Amino acid sequence: MPPVSFRQVGAGSWYGQNMDHPQAPAPGAVPPGVVPRHVAVVMDGNGRWAKERGLPRTEGHRAGEEALVEVVAGAIEAGVEWLSVYAFSTENWRRSPSEVRFLMGYSRRVLRARRDLFHSWNVRVRWAGQAERLWPSVIRELREAEQLTVNNTGLQLVLCVNYGGRAEIISAAKSVMEQGGAAALSEASLSQAMSTPDVDLFWRTSGEARLSNFLIWEAAYAELVFTDKLWPDVTRQDLWSAIDQYGTRERRYGRA
Ligand code: IPE
Ligand code: IPE
Ligand code: MG
Repeated sequence: MPPVSFRQVGAGSWYGQNMDHPQAPAPGAVPPGVVPRHVAVVMDGNGRWAKERGLPRTEGHRAGEEALVEVVAGAIEAGVEWLSVYAFSTENWRRSPSEVRFLMGYSRRVLRARRDLFHSWNVRVRWAGQAERLWPSVIRELREAEQLTVNNTGLQLVLCVNYGGRAEIISAAKSVMEQGGAAALSEASLSQAMSTPDVDLFWRTSGEARLSNFLIWEAAYAELVFTDKLWPDVTRQDLWSAIDQYGTRERRYGRA
């Protein structure tokens, strides 16, 4: 299959035709050895984006789809290996039934609409989250995207849908203990049982400075970067600035 032109997914985007971006230099400020291996993204601010425009919250979610595609492309260009994106938390069921219903249908549509594009970029899609309560049609779509891309060797894209960090720790602990009992519990065995490797850069948009139960085990030593922009306004340059900030940090892991 010929590479899908990024032009088809949004005006001003060039991925697939030209690795340079028309509005900014290609990533390169950060030397390859300093690029974070795993970036976790809390895609926040959709509701506020819509409110600022007098639109229903759901329009903010809709507008966020383009930002997701941008950030995936930017991560590939920067040489990131793992990108985990927080799409729906185990706490988001507390939202109004109509917003929850929208988010379920919307996840399904985005998955179906974008999986071929991601596949053509050699992206491997993975789902992290709880099956409990999640719409079976959404699970089906997630499984299909996983199966379609299972042999891809490029960016590992973890879609965190009905994901909660505490729930993930409990599941991991249960699976380790089922195999080896309490004696088998260790930091190494639990890390092994998590859905992702350790997070290097934890990035949240919209100015909120909290973890909101995202990858709390994996992000124990992550560098935190917070960006004021609301998610639908985000472009790949914003990811690259977060990566630039990451590049200036000194990671000590407790050493003097
Ligand atoms: C993030 O945007 C998307 C989801 C949680 C699904 P929000 O919907 O949280 O937007 P704000 O925080 O209300 O602006
Ligand atoms: C976290 O954002 C969840 C997602 C981005 C999917 P929230 O907007 O739900 O988190 P809180 O409520 O501000 O902590
Ligand atoms: Mg929010």
